[in-house]
Amino acid sequence: MPDTTSKPILLVVDDEEGPRASLKVVFKNDFEVLLASNGKDALKLARERTPDVAILDILMQGMSGVDVLRELKALDEDIEVIMLTAYETLETARQALRHGAREYLNKPFDIPTLRSATSKALEKRRATRELKSAHKRLEELHGEIARRTDADEVGNVLHDLNNPLTVINGFVELLERQVQSVASLEGAEMEKMRGNISRVHGQVARCLEISRRYLGTRRKTDPDERTSVNEVLLDLQELLIKHPSAEGHQFTISELEEPACAAIHSTDLLRILLNLAINALQSGTASHRVEVIAQLLPSDFDSSSFLDSANERFVGRDTLAKSGQHIAISVRDNGPGIPPEVVGKLFNEQFTTKPVGKGTGIGLGSVKQLVTQAKGAVRLSTKVGQGTTFTVFLPAR
Ligand SMILES: Nc1ncnc2c1ncn2[C@@H]1O[C@H](COP(=O)(O)OP(=O)(O)OP(=O)(O)O)[C@@H](O)[C@H]1O
Ligand SMILES: [Mg+2]
Repeated sequence: MPDTTSKPILLVVDDEEGPRASLKVVFKNDFEVLLASNGKDALKLARERTPDVAILDILMQGMSGVDVLRELKALDEDIEVIMLTAYETLETARQALRHGAREYLNKPFDIPTLRSATSKALEKRRATRELKSAHKRLEELHGEIARRTDADEVGNVLHDLNNPLTVINGFVELLERQVQSVASLEGAEMEKMRGNISRVHGQVARCLEISRRYLGTRRKTDPDERTSVNEVLLDLQELLIKHPSAEGHQFTISELEEPACAAIHSTDLLRILLNLAINALQSGTASHRVEVIAQLLPSDFDSSSFLDSANERFVGRDTLAKSGQHIAISVRDNGPGIPPEVVGKLFNEQFTTKPVGKGTGIGLGSVKQLVTQAKGAVRLSTKVGQGTTFTVFLPAR
């Protein structure tokens, strides 16, 4: 028995027996072919099993091909429709394009042409559906984040995920418009489009997975909190590798040589690092390098020499645990650096040098809060023209 479930569906509507029979033969290997000899039967079939592609004869007894086209599009606007036209119906065929038909071919049709038109139509249908499903998943993610009722959590998670999500969303919309406006996507163009779509898909899936994982593990404040630093670094890499801010820059991560845990919740650590890394990527316009480096510090690590000066800041001197092992994670860039008059204001709530609509200034304020809450500290060292390093110190577990 043929496996009909996995085959796309082709609806052929023609009131002549000859063309119907020959189209069935031509397409039966690649499609499940539904045949109808009039518009009414065609629509009945289409309501039972939505076709992916339809081939409609324009001139038929009863409902015309254009009427059938309109009804099919009302049923599912993404059904791809090819019209078959004779010389007398050429003007009607042009009208059909305005009603969303993909193209029209002359009757008697030439089989290779019809084959290629049909397979392109199927490609387009698949691309459109993939896009729509990417869109849907994106909305799911937005919904999921919005459903979190803990106000503080919502605000913060949105701040951190908003950036990549908004961009993905914009990208999906752009692709969607392109797919709609281009009547027929050919070869290389189609390949490119499919590539982009699957990248969007991948990124959406990753965001979903990561956010679910992090949102799912909401805490009661746990004094024994522990998080594998290397696992969070892997997630950071995945979230940032295709982040728009990373475009044109080099971004690398060096994990801990020996896996170790930090005494902090995974969500908090991811948020701290996302903020610092995105800031570093967004600093300046010229192409530069951003490195994230994690190290387990020797147990005699001493922070007493860290200064507050024109080019340095040390936040959390009082909260940092004085004994025990620490993990240091540095986010280092060779971007423009931070001028001394800005250094003093950086960790203030809502300080930003970014234009309205670009930055909220929430980033470093929440880094400070999250790090000190975990009994850690942050060190800033910067030099105009050379770059900036933020190092987060956290108790190891
Ligand atoms: N690596 C860096 N290089 C240069 N300037 C930086 C760097 N990191 C932070 N800054 C400066 O610190 C300011 C405050 O950063 P913060 O993360 O708090 O807010 P923001 O990045 O402006 O806004 P948001 O985080 O909401 O996008 C930035 O506007 C920028 O001027
Ligand atoms: Mg920021």
